[in-house]
Amino acid sequence: MIREIKVNLFDFIISFSEAIDLISPLVSNHHFKVAYIAYMIGSELRLFPETLNELVLAGALHDIGAISLKERLDALQFEVENPYHHAEMSYLLLRSYGPFAQIAIMVRFHHVPWNGGKGLEFNGNEVPLGSHILHLADRVAVLTGNNQQEVLGKSKYIIKQIQDESGKLFMPELVEAFKELASKESFWLEAASPSIRSILRDKVMLPVVEVAMEGLTEIAKLFSHIIDFRNRFTATHSSGVAASAEYLARLCGFSGRECQMMRVAGYLHDLGKLAVPVEILEKNGQLSREEFEIIKSHPYFTYRILESFKNLEEIAIWASFHHEKLDGSGYPFHLKAYDLPLGSRIMSVADVFCAITEDRPYRKGMPKEQVVKVLDDMVKNLSLDPYIVEILKSNFDEVNEYRKKAQTAAAEEYRAFYTGVGL
Ligand SMILES: [Fe+2]
Ligand SMILES: [Fe+2]
Ligand SMILES: [Fe+2]
Repeated sequence: MIREIKVNLFDFIISFSEAIDLISPLVSNHHFKVAYIAYMIGSELRLFPETLNELVLAGALHDIGAISLKERLDALQFEVENPYHHAEMSYLLLRSYGPFAQIAIMVRFHHVPWNGGKGLEFNGNEVPLGSHILHLADRVAVLTGNNQQEVLGKSKYIIKQIQDESGKLFMPELVEAFKELASKESFWLEAASPSIRSILRDKVMLPVVEVAMEGLTEIAKLFSHIIDFRNRFTATHSSGVAASAEYLARLCGFSGRECQMMRVAGYLHDLGKLAVPVEILEKNGQLSREEFEIIKSHPYFTYRILESFKNLEEIAIWASFHHEKLDGSGYPFHLKAYDLPLGSRIMSVADVFCAITEDRPYRKGMPKEQVVKVLDDMVKNLSLDPYIVEILKSNFDEVNEYRKKAQTAAAEEYRAFYTGVGL
């Protein structure tokens, strides 16, 4: 019998936001911190549980639109220059997934100042209370920093900074709620804790929201955009890999459910690239050895993030081993053929196939004969599975059409995403 796959939405988002914060030690735990502080302020105000849940999710995702490392670091200044750009980008990414509509709106206005109540409306839009909570939580998180030992010493200064902005940057009622929290050492020690992730899991009453396969596919697609849209050269890559891997899986005799799992794995195979600064991903010219090593870490982070989910072991394995080779010369685990399940081998073929067939801004995709030659060479040097490459070659046009269709749709979404920026 086929097992029903279900994941806990909160666990999934929290792991995902950890990935976004791997980009630099300077931003580490920022998303968790904001989620935690926003939740605590919301609890102090006795908001409804649903709103508290939304605050946690919004906090965990609020800066996903800050695509470059520079923009992430800029967002960590107390006074952010042009903060609306990344907030708008975060909004555009999140709103594409229906159930996140409310969270998307909260995130959109997370830098709007309260300004004596003027901030309740921004450019003709109503700013929800959640945005003001996020704003305050974000600024407190920035001032708090990562040093648990020093945080108590800094707390008075932080309270003063926030108090000085009451009625200006921040809503006075929220500042009062914050001051109540700030009178407890435990609040500061938790906000600056290196284990904030487990604190968030244990302390915050996160509901169990189970997402089944359909929902998981939708969320994985949203995440694939967050991964891909960071790099204009490969803005549709994960969509192409997802489609090719799914199609190849079908040709290899996988069940309908397994094909869908393969699609999810394809969307997420480069998840670990969130930990790579876009400045390296998009670098013009030769990468230094150190930069190349940073890029090479990405399948490891994909694995680390996905393996923590009980029900996603297969997806984690199929997604993360796409740079392994049959002879053990791949990375990061140097697995050999007998350790590589069919799903992982399909993913490797789909990844190479997509990388060489897709058009990029600086070059056209390869024609069929050239693709076949590259794949054959990779079979000869024990990089790719001969059986899967044979299947791909025998069904080349169909697979290629399916890939192209998926990438054309993703390119459309990419265009809509960038032209949809209203600020
Ligand atoms: Fe921000
Ligand atoms: Fe932030
Ligand atoms: Fe990769």
